[in-house]
Amino acid sequence: MNNEKVLNGIVSELTLKFQNKDSSYFFTRLGKAYHKIEKLFFSLYEKNDKNESYFKELLLSLGDLYSERSDDLKKIDILREEDKNWFMSPNWVGTMLYVDRYNKNLKGFIKKIDYLEELGVNYVHLMPLLSMPKGENDGGYAVSDYRSVDKKFGSMEDIENISEIFRSKNMLLELDLVLNHTSNEHEWAKKALKGEKDYQDMYYMYDDREIPNKFEESLPEVFPETAPGNFTYLPEINKWVFTVFNTYQWDLNYTNPKVFIEMTKILLNLANKGIDIMRLDAVAFMWKKIGTSSQNLPEAHTILQLLKTATKIVAPGVLFKAEAIVQPEEIVKYLGVGGEEECEIAYNASFMVYLWDAMATHNKKILENGLTHIARLPKGTTWINYIRCHDDIGLGYADKDIISSGYSPFDHKQFIISYYVGEFKGTPAKGQRFMYNPKTKDSRITGSTASLLGLEKALEDKNHTLQEKALKKILLMHSAIMTLGGIPLVYYGDELASINDYSYLDDNDKKNDNRWLNRPIINWKKSENRHKEGTIENTIFKGIQKMIKIRKEIKEFHNENDFTIITNENDNVFSFLRELNGEKTLILMNMSDHPQYLNQYIIEKTGIPFDSIDLYTGNKLNIVNREIKLLPFEFLWLK
Ligand code: GLC
Ligand code: GLC
Repeated sequence: MNNEKVLNGIVSELTLKFQNKDSSYFFTRLGKAYHKIEKLFFSLYEKNDKNESYFKELLLSLGDLYSERSDDLKKIDILREEDKNWFMSPNWVGTMLYVDRYNKNLKGFIKKIDYLEELGVNYVHLMPLLSMPKGENDGGYAVSDYRSVDKKFGSMEDIENISEIFRSKNMLLELDLVLNHTSNEHEWAKKALKGEKDYQDMYYMYDDREIPNKFEESLPEVFPETAPGNFTYLPEINKWVFTVFNTYQWDLNYTNPKVFIEMTKILLNLANKGIDIMRLDAVAFMWKKIGTSSQNLPEAHTILQLLKTATKIVAPGVLFKAEAIVQPEEIVKYLGVGGEEECEIAYNASFMVYLWDAMATHNKKILENGLTHIARLPKGTTWINYIRCHDDIGLGYADKDIISSGYSPFDHKQFIISYYVGEFKGTPAKGQRFMYNPKTKDSRITGSTASLLGLEKALEDKNHTLQEKALKKILLMHSAIMTLGGIPLVYYGDELASINDYSYLDDNDKKNDNRWLNRPIINWKKSENRHKEGTIENTIFKGIQKMIKIRKEIKEFHNENDFTIITNENDNVFSFLRELNGEKTLILMNMSDHPQYLNQYIIEKTGIPFDSIDLYTGNKLNIVNREIKLLPFEFLWLK
């Protein structure tokens, strides 16, 4: 059948369905995107009768999902279509949290919305809360039913309720969509285990080790310590299933168009609950190919482009955030290459790692080289700039950034690891190794921001000087994410300087995963200290709150990734400029624990006035003998 005929057929079927409801927006968007969606779909799936009927099924379900979308959401869609850069304003400041560890459940969370408002946060990622297995579930990243909220958190109604409250307060709601795998308790998995072929085809299943062995020749392992290998044997059906992450997380087989269609419906069904941003989990892994690492393959990008195109037809107000914690040059591709639209937001994992590097070396060399080498983002896309999230910190920076900074990649990474796990002489950090590989000595790092920066050790040793330093470092790192260009994300608990939470060790389903160190249970009584002068909570909460408040007012702190690195003569001071319509702010960060000096030339060269004010303290710039002095770990926002 030719295009025209297919499209006309679909239009008449949908017109019948929509009956009298206004569907002009839908048809306009479909008409505009038709060639694109068709091209993308048939670039993944061979053109034959079967796949043509799948394609038709896809378009018809888009129609259904559009007619289910509420009028309120449709209005927002239209506004956001008209103002495509709506999320670029410096007004947005994010956080992420586990509702149960925050305040028990979704109803409990609602009671804490005013706390978030007090801090200034208006964009909230609620960590996985869809139905999940009772025992181990990878913090909810093993989903058993994408259409229901796990009973322990509440219900889908609670989510809709929160999204309504958020809309009335101009706040944004983000949820996860775990696209790469389902839990082994998902209905599809259960049917597959019963031997139903159609459902086995939703996953990658093999009768023997022949193909798995071929794959494994080039596949890295994500959890080598706790889930070695990439396949799991299923005795019930005598088959091997692809499981890149844990054994109970079965990888979905996107070579099967049915999988793609079902996941699209799931995505849009969630979008229709009022989700503003979908966090697309583990997107790098969505396509597999023997002989490759099965990460970042072009088809994974095609899937994302297809999902984006479908979403723009049904729910154009919804943004995608890519969770692709991969090499710097690969991350950028998830924001679209060559004008193709994929995700609008991605985690700036590289910047995060460079910051941790600078906090350990006390110099800016890798931070500056690294940022110089990463490509800038396409217009209309942005970063999440963050210090910590719920996962480990993987030292995924490019070797060339380490070499060009004068270090050897292996030795340097070993230094960073030993610094943060508390082995390097004199380090104040109390982190832990995650997924240590004895063969390569490689490992990732876990631990909370405050513990990695020395606060936990300072408290144990009752060392006041160390404590002061840790607090300064916490604020310095937050200053970086507030200003660089991207949406800052304050990890829950960091605004109270939460140290490592060891309670996960008492829980059998968590004790083998030390990422839980950094997933604190919030102590609300202690959080009251934020109102008490001189407490740790007060220093950090008020500091971050103040940064947020200022950031929102400074137009040049918008989310376009257009900072200019200003090189200077001092290896310990990182400096960059933000600029918009002639308004300028120069950021100076002293990464070291000694006072540092900069020649006033930096002021002349950037055109910042000599009597400029530091936005954060309100103090006038102090130049003595043509030099700017920065105290240990001090930062200045010079307007
Ligand atoms: C994502 C999550 C991580 C999880 C993994 C597997 O990367 O951030 O916590 O373990 O996906 O779903
Ligand atoms: C790696 C993976 C990421 C995963 C994480 C789990 O960073 O790239 O997808 O979630 O490990 O800790």
